[in-house]
Amino acid sequence: MDSLYVQLGGEETIDKVVEQLYRNVLNDSDLAPFFDGINVPLQQRKFLLFLNLATDGPHHYSGLELRSAHANVVEKGASEMHVDKLLDHLKSALEQVDADSDLIEAVIHRVKCYTGDVLGH
Ligand code: HEM
Repeated sequence: MDSLYVQLGGEETIDKVVEQLYRNVLNDSDLAPFFDGINVPLQQRKFLLFLNLATDGPHHYSGLELRSAHANVVEKGASEMHVDKLLDHLKSALEQVDADSDLIEAVIHRVKCYTGDVLGH
């Protein structure tokens, strides 16, 4: 069976998803303030690599641990609600590239598994 990465359409699709995700996130007044001063293209690249990890893609995610990467974000008050909003934005970005609903559910499930790391639980 192909990896989720391949089923989604590979790098071209994932690129579009990440672009759309950050468009959604930066338009969300609850999430945007957390990204003040963040280099967005670099952040997109990191999230793209993270999605490779979450969907068994070919590129290696060699960034910081999600836990340490989000320590500041948690200190500034990020909670489950913020993660849920980010996941909703990811879901709509996947819908915009016409991914199958089963596939969308599988990706969201995989990414949601990292919530504990992100929130430092
Ligand atoms: C399951 C949910 C999430 C995942 C999978 C995720 C993933 C990532 C990844 C891969 C990075 C790059 C880390 C690195 O430097 O290697 C990152 C950074 C970041 N994330 Fe998240 N994230 C999530 C939720 C959130 C939420 C809810 C917020 C805001 C409320 C947020 C704000 C940030 C910020 C501001 C950075 C940049 C940190 C910095 O460069 O100093 N993230 N995230």
